[in-house]
Amino acid sequence: MAKIELIATATFGLEEMVKLEVKQLGYEEMQVENGKVTFVADEAAIPKANIWLRTADRVLLKMGEFEARSFEELFQRTKALPWEEWIPENGKFPVVGKSVKSQLFSVSDCQAIVKKAIVERLKEVYHVDWFQESGPEFEVEVALLKDVATLTIDTSGAGLHKRGYRAQANEAPLKETLAAAMVMISRWREDRVLIDPFCGSGTIAIEAAMIGKNIAPGLERKFAAEEWPRVPEHLWKEVRVEALKTIRQDVDIRILASDIDPRAVKIAEENAYRAGVDDCITFQVQDIAKIASDAKYGYIICNPPYGERLGEKEEIEKLYKRMGQIFSKFDTWSVYVLTSHEAFENLYGKKASKKRKLYNGRIKVDYYQFFGPKPPKEMLEKRMVLNETDERM
Ligand SMILES: C[S@@+](CC[C@H](N)C(=O)[O-])C[C@H]1O[C@@H](n2cnc3c(N)ncnc32)[C@H](O)[C@@H]1O
Repeated sequence: MAKIELIATATFGLEEMVKLEVKQLGYEEMQVENGKVTFVADEAAIPKANIWLRTADRVLLKMGEFEARSFEELFQRTKALPWEEWIPENGKFPVVGKSVKSQLFSVSDCQAIVKKAIVERLKEVYHVDWFQESGPEFEVEVALLKDVATLTIDTSGAGLHKRGYRAQANEAPLKETLAAAMVMISRWREDRVLIDPFCGSGTIAIEAAMIGKNIAPGLERKFAAEEWPRVPEHLWKEVRVEALKTIRQDVDIRILASDIDPRAVKIAEENAYRAGVDDCITFQVQDIAKIASDAKYGYIICNPPYGERLGEKEEIEKLYKRMGQIFSKFDTWSVYVLTSHEAFENLYGKKASKKRKLYNGRIKVDYYQFFGPKPPKEMLEKRMVLNETDERM
């Protein structure tokens, strides 16, 4: 198989997490930049990355990168790329674009130039004048940043957060990719109890259970590149068969997901069922004050309401103070909270061990991490078998 370059795109703040995942898939040669991890791979990596990456937004095939300060330059350099190696004669190739701090700032003009350049190239290769574009889709993106154009084809289709289990969402659901990142950053493992007391549609609990059971996030969905002749069906099948084999049925996962809103809990239950993890999660309708567990060294991972709407601020501040009191009873536990409220630590009454800046959609948030005490040696030893280190990200 030929060498190719893939780009796993990442939400701001999650690049290191995506890098770690790409490395775990076995790809070592990579470059991390704002919003993306570029890695050297082969065609087999297209199914592998799409089916396995939990925290990336998409997987793009990098066709080329070059300086482009004029439309002529953009046209000629785009035309020089080997598009026919991927796009067949009947391929559909819409072009999308973006431009940041570049002389070529008209996105629609850049899109039109790139489209024309690819058409001209393919006309010469396929000896036709007109393309019906009735076949598989190859969405091309021209992304200009400081006069450098990066040309890619999207291999994913729908964003990778669309795992297929969420038919319904409650208010303000987290993106599945962000929820998975929250769990992975916490380094929760299946031998510890996990509580999400503001579970909403259940995203954190479901993503954690999928991680615990080692269920590949993309196992149940389709990807754009499944229709591409260059990425044959057997490559997809191999990754899926292997992924099915590595699902862990033997693990005893204990996750408690609760919410004050009965409608949210019902939705969460249905989503967990569709994701195949309803056996690992206990759902309850309850106020946060009612959460309880006999377990030690567990994890609370949550995304409480932010109070961004008018009139909610006071109520939210009271809730954050209550969280501080309620969670303080879980004195051996580690607590992880995602919120946009800048005074969270003051209200909660404790300074976080670590904070990480992230984005929840367009909302700037902080991920507050309150590390619990180290568990006794026996517990740690068990964890060492599951995962070599207990070092925190
Ligand atoms: C931002 S949403 C959580 C969204 C969730 N992470 C998801 O992905 O769908 C916050 C949730 O907190 C719940 N909530 C608000 N006050 C609560 C309280 N006092 N006790 C328990 N749940 C509460 C709301 O019903 C809402 O579902």
